Amino acid sequence: MMDDMNCLCLSNFNYLIVIFIICISESYGSSSKDFGHDHLLALAFLRRLDSEGTQKEWLTDIRCKILLAGFVCHLGNELLLSTSSQLTVDFYKSSCPNVLRIVRGEVMIAIKNEMRMAASLLRLHFHDCFVNGCDGSVLLDGSDGEKFALPNINSLRGLEVVDRIKAALENSCPGVVSCADLLTIAARDSVLLSGGPSWKVLLGRRDGLVANKTGADQGLPSPFESLDGIINKFVDVGLGVTDVVALSGAHTIGLARCAMFNNRLFNFSGSGSPDPTMESAMVSDLQALCPLTDDGNKTTVLDRNSTDLFDNHYFKNLLNRKGLLGSDQILFSDSTTTKALVQAYSSNTTLFFADFVKAMIKMGNISPLTGSAGQIRNNCRLLNSS
Ligand SMILES: *[C@@H]1O[C@H](CO)[C@@H](O)[C@H](O)[C@H]1NC(C)=O
Ligand SMILES: *[C@@H]1O[C@H](CO)[C@@H](O)[C@H](O)[C@H]1NC(C)=O
Ligand SMILES: *[C@@H]1O[C@H](CO)[C@@H](O)[C@H](O)[C@H]1NC(C)=O
Ligand SMILES: *[C@@H]1O[C@H](CO)[C@@H](O)[C@H](O)[C@H]1NC(C)=O
Ligand SMILES: *[C@@H]1O[C@H](CO)[C@@H](O)[C@H](O)[C@H]1NC(C)=O
Repeated sequence: MMDDMNCLCLSNFNYLIVIFIICISESYGSSSKDFGHDHLLALAFLRRLDSEGTQKEWLTDIRCKILLAGFVCHLGNELLLSTSSQLTVDFYKSSCPNVLRIVRGEVMIAIKNEMRMAASLLRLHFHDCFVNGCDGSVLLDGSDGEKFALPNINSLRGLEVVDRIKAALENSCPGVVSCADLLTIAARDSVLLSGGPSWKVLLGRRDGLVANKTGADQGLPSPFESLDGIINKFVDVGLGVTDVVALSGAHTIGLARCAMFNNRLFNFSGSGSPDPTMESAMVSDLQALCPLTDDGNKTTVLDRNSTDLFDNHYFKNLLNRKGLLGSDQILFSDSTTTKALVQAYSSNTTLFFADFVKAMIKMGNISPLTGSAGQIRNNCRLLNSS
């Protein structure tokens, strides 16, 4: 008998083969049909990319990358990084055997509907884990919630998707799967469905009883911060310099608001000129998009080359002074330990994916609540009424 993850990977693998067939059949002018539900989802996903007028060359590219991701996913099943945490891959084996399938299905629907959602869900997991550990605290409503901390206000997204995933889980196995684990699985699936690597997620986290707005303000790295400041925040939660660079690679997908980088465009650090570490054509583009008279709410892509595809192009951009945020480009500043890593990832996708997976697993292990600590929330936004 195959375990749940293998089944998922297998069905994933099937639609990757279908994608491959589409690639081929398109070059032979025939049409693909009737591949079953999962495959229709995959088809719809690709058709949507088609209908958005995406350049055909890029489409072929993303298909091949996703195909590759399927192989990585396949191999990834053999690779389980050992850790000291009490979390396990088969935590819900008897209590909620379909947990991975349910989350994957909902994430797929959400991403089909809006590609950007992959980045939003990944960021939710990150912003959860850096504050009081991975305990779902970021999801709690309330005026003193983490949602109102500076790094989250007006930028946290995907909360409705989390509600839908949670409802589907409660429908199948009420009171069993934590919101913290939900975020962990959704983050992994978002990476995989964007063409990135896959890995086995460790599960068994429970949900925290408090939100920590101050913790979010103080603990989450900011786009305006110095490299040492950013590294210190990672070190504070038990991560290291390699994790800083590998996890920054998540900016290979997603968007950012002008307010997060317009400090670089006109009068950088009071110099009267734009940030000299930003490429000049990119400065002009962004000055047009983000005039200082604006409210800073317009958005642009973090990876100007392959916006929705999880690949190593983020690092190639840094080599070309095309990082969007100050905290991106600073990783490639002179004489820093991070520069060599950026260089290595820019030329070796395998290395980037391997370090990214290690870093994601480490991040997912930050101070989990286990045993009888915390609770399993019925609604991710609220503590259970006692
Ligand atoms: C909130 O986070 C701060 C900073 O990390 C920490 O010192 C504090 O103990 C936390 N408060 C609660 C209630 O968890
Ligand atoms: C840039 O900022 C500095 C410091 O805030 C200020 O003194 C200077 O006048 C500004 N220059 C321009 C061109 O706006
Ligand atoms: C950006 O939009 C949000 C609503 O999404 C609004 O509350 C906020 O005031 C806007 N930001 C600025 C600087 O106007
Ligand atoms: C993306 O990068 C590839 C190779 O680095 C290049 O051939 C292509 O023109 C770039 N596309 C865009 C839209 O910049
Ligand atoms: C890329 O990284 C992988 C994993 O560390 C390594 O095995 C491989 O040799 C590297 N490839 C190149 C071309 O350096």
